[in-house]
Amino acid sequence: MITERILLSIETSCDETAAAIVTEDFRVVSSVVSTQIPLHAKWGGVIPGIASKQHVIAMNGVVREAMDSAGVKPDDLAAVAVTVGPGLPGSLAAGVSAAKAIALAWSKPLVGVNHLEGHLFSAELDGVKIEFPAVYLLVSGGHCMLVYAPERGKYKLLGTTKDDSVGEAYDKVARELGFEYPGGPVIDRLALTGKESYQLPRPMLDVGYDFSFSGLKSAVRRVIDQGNAVAEDVAASFVAASMDVLTTKLKRAVEEYHPKSAVIVGGVSKSPVLREQLGNGALGDTKIIFPSLKYSTDNAAMIGAAGWWQFTHNGPIEDTVGMMPRLSLPLAGGETESASMEGRLPIRRQEDGTDGGK
Ligand code: KG4
Ligand code: ZN
Repeated sequence: MITERILLSIETSCDETAAAIVTEDFRVVSSVVSTQIPLHAKWGGVIPGIASKQHVIAMNGVVREAMDSAGVKPDDLAAVAVTVGPGLPGSLAAGVSAAKAIALAWSKPLVGVNHLEGHLFSAELDGVKIEFPAVYLLVSGGHCMLVYAPERGKYKLLGTTKDDSVGEAYDKVARELGFEYPGGPVIDRLALTGKESYQLPRPMLDVGYDFSFSGLKSAVRRVIDQGNAVAEDVAASFVAASMDVLTTKLKRAVEEYHPKSAVIVGGVSKSPVLREQLGNGALGDTKIIFPSLKYSTDNAAMIGAAGWWQFTHNGPIEDTVGMMPRLSLPLAGGETESASMEGRLPIRRQEDGTDGGK
């Protein structure tokens, strides 16, 4: 019997259909992830049309399993939270429409969640507490960014990628080597037995907090095009170069901002090399925190935690909200990550003129 307040969260921004039940203090009561990887594997990446259709097919079963395995009935829920963006438009639309229908049918407030903020909360599930100020390194298939947070929920973007994300580079290198999507796990596995025998560039290593991975990816392609490349060694050289960039930039941010915690999240945070290089003590007094492996890649539990944060601080979103494929991280000064991106979630105004929530 669950005595805490709980919400149902739904995530469909890319190729995982996921639902979870999460308590107000971020305990995960159930977390169901239906992956589409087998449907996309042979194409070397996610095919948007296949992804959105599959979300619609899988949604009911995934939500039902999350509710049933938690022993939860609609009446027990305080709210329904859903990823509104950023992500693939058709994929997001499938999740947002389902969440809106559920919220309407069960008379629950609808909470909009930013997928990026979801990843930032993934390290705080099941009792882990981050001490602030914190620096986050978000490394996924869609994003690669360094974020400074003086307190939970307040963000300053330090740097982002100028081209590919590191996860995308993993996926493209895997494809060049003839392996299926996603590239992360296979490249990491190959790298274990390979030697760093190819000299690969470390783009933008010496300056600032921005990233660039397309030059590294092209350098790998040139090595492969020359023929006789040893896949294990290519993987080991690529992993060494990309992890060098990630850890150097993170260390730079830690030296400048002296955070209490350095939090590494997103699919690439599964990398055993990254986890080894950023073992205890690697950043001096700054505590290094990784999410558990099951919460590194996309899931709905992290959306539940960020959903609680949104719900209690900003309240539900407007009923008219659709998906926001280019939503950016809400930054402390009110500015957005990029002028061309959509900014903030439209929060529902209460009748007394406040933003609701608490
Ligand atoms: O966070 P995520 O599930 O989805 C996005 O929000 O993008 O990240 C997916 C990315 C893929 O590019 C995949 O290749 C990468 O995470 N990935 C890994 C590993 N497992 C997945 N990268 C490095 N090492 C891994 N073990
Ligand atoms: Zn993600």
